[in-house]
Amino acid sequence: MLTVVDRPVLQYVVDEAREAGIEQFIFVTGRNKAVIEDHFDIAFELEDTLEKRGKTGPLAELRAELPAAGSVSFTRQQAPLGLGHAVWCARHLVGDEPFALLLPDVIIKAERGCMAQMMDVYRDNGGTNVIAVEEVPAERTDQYGVVEIEGSGDVFDVTGMVEKPKLGTAPSNLIITGRYILTPRIFGMLEHQEKGAGGEIQITDSMLTLMREEGFKGLRFKGRTYDCGSKIGFLGANLAYGLDRADLGPELRALASELMG
Ligand code: G1P
Repeated sequence: MLTVVDRPVLQYVVDEAREAGIEQFIFVTGRNKAVIEDHFDIAFELEDTLEKRGKTGPLAELRAELPAAGSVSFTRQQAPLGLGHAVWCARHLVGDEPFALLLPDVIIKAERGCMAQMMDVYRDNGGTNVIAVEEVPAERTDQYGVVEIEGSGDVFDVTGMVEKPKLGTAPSNLIITGRYILTPRIFGMLEHQEKGAGGEIQITDSMLTLMREEGFKGLRFKGRTYDCGSKIGFLGANLAYGLDRADLGPELRALASELMG
């Protein structure tokens, strides 16, 4: 719920999914995260105040962000057992359908949303599994899931994946960015997944099994990632999105250059 400029980080990710045509949203949250549910509901008091004060612009913006009735569901991961386990917690809500998975601490600034770009790859390849990848310097590969690939270009076959490899052992410097399109077979694999890197149930480990059975495409997407789970990523996102705003950009640019001397 941290705000980048004036909207929660989560909202950017929901917008990216909406742009890709996604209509049903499932949030896996945890204890003390009820504020997320409230964010997707009508803010009655706020709307009432805005209306009484004649603030039609902000009121319209607020209403435009309200999801359609019944399109949002929530479930809880009761213990932090890993990303794979978090996804598995949503198995009954997802059902027997392919789904998109977006990790909302990562926001991607792109002309066309990353998930929309991935949806093209999914459609063009007969509904296969897809992950978004990007390059990082070799000394940071130990912080991510890293892929091994075959072929070149923007879309390629993934031939291997490893979660948080030790430095010097990564198969490439292409990392998994936090955007996935997966078939529901992943749930059966997650069900039996043993703990992996960091003692957690990792989605990457189950994806490796899925890859061997169904294949996986990687997409080098067009766009820039801001990992809002890191301080520098969060600051960078505020700067990038702020500079882009017609109402704030010029003043922010002047301020930033003044501060940088
Ligand atoms: C998760 C995934 C990892 C991926 C990363 C992207 O790691 O497990 O494969 O590269 O997100 O942000 P986490 O950030 O939860 O450690």
